Amino acid sequence: MLLVKIGGSTLGSQDTTFEDLVALQKQGVPVVVVHGGGAVITDWLKKQGVATRFVNGRRVTDEPTLATVVAVLAGLVNSEIVAKVNSLGGKAVGLSGVDGPLLEAGIREPELGLVGEVVKVNTRPVEMLLAAGYIPVIAPLGLMSGADGKGQILNVNADTAAAEIAIALKAESFVLLTDVAGVMDKSGKVFDALTVHEANTLIASGVASGGMIPKLEACFKAVERVPRARIIDGRQAHALRGEVEGVGGGTTITQ
Ligand SMILES: Nc1ncnc2c1ncn2[C@@H]1O[C@H](COP(=O)(O)OP(=O)(O)OP(=O)(O)O)[C@@H](O)[C@H]1O
Ligand SMILES: [Mg+2]
Repeated sequence: MLLVKIGGSTLGSQDTTFEDLVALQKQGVPVVVVHGGGAVITDWLKKQGVATRFVNGRRVTDEPTLATVVAVLAGLVNSEIVAKVNSLGGKAVGLSGVDGPLLEAGIREPELGLVGEVVKVNTRPVEMLLAAGYIPVIAPLGLMSGADGKGQILNVNADTAAAEIAIALKAESFVLLTDVAGVMDKSGKVFDALTVHEANTLIASGVASGGMIPKLEACFKAVERVPRARIIDGRQAHALRGEVEGVGGGTTITQ
């Protein structure tokens, strides 16, 4: 099983990812998609005059921000991805981490507000869709766990959600499509491979910052269980197909 995280930042650019997803499905490769949507959320927050702030690549989420996050991720972005895959002859069904509930979560750090840390993954809804021949397309929301959760929805970073789901589903491959060529050094050169230790050094020195931090942290977690963790350029035509065929650039994270 292949878990693909589609970065919101690459959505809408001449995207061949959907064609690749349909082609993989037709070849019988089980694929699960988790998507982001950071750029679209920021646009919608702007339209509403809500300012947005990030701490270490994670969006500080108060209640009005959460409402927009839920509407944009589980509504707009998720539906657009599902619509594109289905219109190309694929079979996809959208859900969010709240469905099932696939992702049970707790508050990550009070400073971030309604941002979730995944405490449990219930894989059943995803497995059912896979078994029925669908590509599950997952919006990264979590349901606050426990009796005192009271139905609170939490914003989970898409990279974090993707890693947790990849581990729970015992994925063979974890691929993060983003809007850069891979993890870059300070001169902009892409690393072919990085160990967890090397990548941590890049974070500590500030060379890897912002949205790259949760992405690398997701890979650190994934590589403990998933054989292959890759950060690749989703802007490149047929990046996903190339990935499955073992060609193309990007950065491999290894233990
Ligand atoms: N060392 C680095 N190498 C590459 N990119 C880096 C580095 N440090 C920081 N970045 C930033 O990380 C960004 C990618 O993360 P970002 O969260 O913006 O996108 P995404 O995760 O693909 O999309 P989304 O958050 O919508 O899911 C790059 O656009 C780049 O600006
Ligand atoms: Mg991101």
